[in-house]
Amino acid sequence: MKKMNLALSLIALVVLSGCGDKPKSEVVTYKYTPDQVYKETCLHCHGPKGEGVAEKKGPALTKQSVQELEMSLFDIKNGGLGQSTATEHDVMEHNMKKLAEKGYDYDIKMMANYIHNTFNVTK
Ligand code: HEC
Repeated sequence: MKKMNLALSLIALVVLSGCGDKPKSEVVTYKYTPDQVYKETCLHCHGPKGEGVAEKKGPALTKQSVQELEMSLFDIKNGGLGQSTATEHDVMEHNMKKLAEKGYDYDIKMMANYIHNTFNVTK
């Protein structure tokens, strides 16, 4: 019976370690929630209510639709994380790269929804 268990756990090991090359579509888990990321980083330039911070040149994030935010964030993240895209978000792309290096990465959809649900004034 002992031998049987050993054989089974060996099989389990082989099966588990077989997952080495993960598919690209794997679910990424982020260290912080959009709420934490926003309050600890974005807030400095976009304000506690997403109203924008003039001296940091951070624009307001209170009037964009979820789709607009998603598109901007997609652009910012892809530009900032290497794959170059020609856009007007150069400043933010640079910021995003720095933030991601510190672990402040986020899911685009979740962040867009968070910003919209928390700050939007056009609802
Ligand atoms: C160091 C200041 C700074 C920080 C920190 C910062 N931003 Fe920005 N953000 C800017 C500036 C400046 C712009 C406008 C220029 C640009 O898009 O590159 C901008 C633009 C944006 C835009 C595009 C707005 C539009 O209408 O096109 C979005 C969305 C955005 N930021 C989201 C975020 C999020 C989410 C975070 C936190 C993860 C964040 N920003 C952190 C300064 C900052």
